[in-house]
Amino acid sequence: MWNFFNDKSKNEKTSISLDMNNIPKHIGIIMDGNGRWAKERNLPRSMGHKAGVETIRDIVKECDKIGVKYLTLYAFSTENWKRPKDEVNALMKLLVQYLRKEIEELHSNNVIVNSIGDTSKLPEICQQELKDAYEKTKNNTGLTLNLALNYGGRDEIIRAVKLLYNDIKDGKVNEDDIDENMISNYLYTSHMPDPDLIIRPSGEKRLSNFLIWQCAYAEFWYSDIKWPDFNKDYLHKAIYDYQNRDRRFGGVK
Ligand code: IPE
Ligand code: IPE
Ligand code: MG
Repeated sequence: MWNFFNDKSKNEKTSISLDMNNIPKHIGIIMDGNGRWAKERNLPRSMGHKAGVETIRDIVKECDKIGVKYLTLYAFSTENWKRPKDEVNALMKLLVQYLRKEIEELHSNNVIVNSIGDTSKLPEICQQELKDAYEKTKNNTGLTLNLALNYGGRDEIIRAVKLLYNDIKDGKVNEDDIDENMISNYLYTSHMPDPDLIIRPSGEKRLSNFLIWQCAYAEFWYSDIKWPDFNKDYLHKAIYDYQNRDRRFGGVK
């Protein structure tokens, strides 16, 4: 498949050929840079988040089109509650608007709309929309869209340990049963493959508590581009770079 990647900084076009037999099964995206994007334009941060939602729309569509099976979008971390109340409220409102506006199209495209994280702490209306979206789409067979909301990798591990502790106490699990596979199955992403590729726009080079267990062998792709300016050409570039990495998983080739 041929696409054109428009490198805005150099104002030149480069052709990219993706290997359709090596599309990452699971992509995680840390959608970052909305605030700085808005600041550069003298706009309130909430306008950056609004612009970021447009990018979500395009990227979900493209991932589905090229055959990605799981897309996990980091939308709100367990640490993001530290932000001003107005900003948190604006983010929650955008979530509801996004789900209401997009659900029919997502459903008709066979997408499963799932969430990961402790959603019980989100406003009631968000919980209801997420529940409705999941109920409507849970029997679809296409892309699984994981919206990571009030998600934190450490929080997820604490939750897993508590669930495991209870199962041990109830005699459902023995010490010898505990292995990597079992721990994975106590996480929100149970029965999903680990992410192959993690994308973080905005120039930051950190995980910020995203999928810390699952990322053990993920490939990382960073870019200075802010999330509202991210588009399918950048997605293709990230996948292209991923396809040219040598994944050894600790072995030799
Ligand atoms: C979006 O980008 C990420 C969310 C938490 C929704 P930011 O709001 O973190 O943008 P920057 O990093 O301040 O530019
Ligand atoms: C990570 O971005 C969380 C999301 C994208 C939802 P942050 O902007 O919160 O991360 P830090 O503070 O730069 O590490
Ligand atoms: Mg940020």
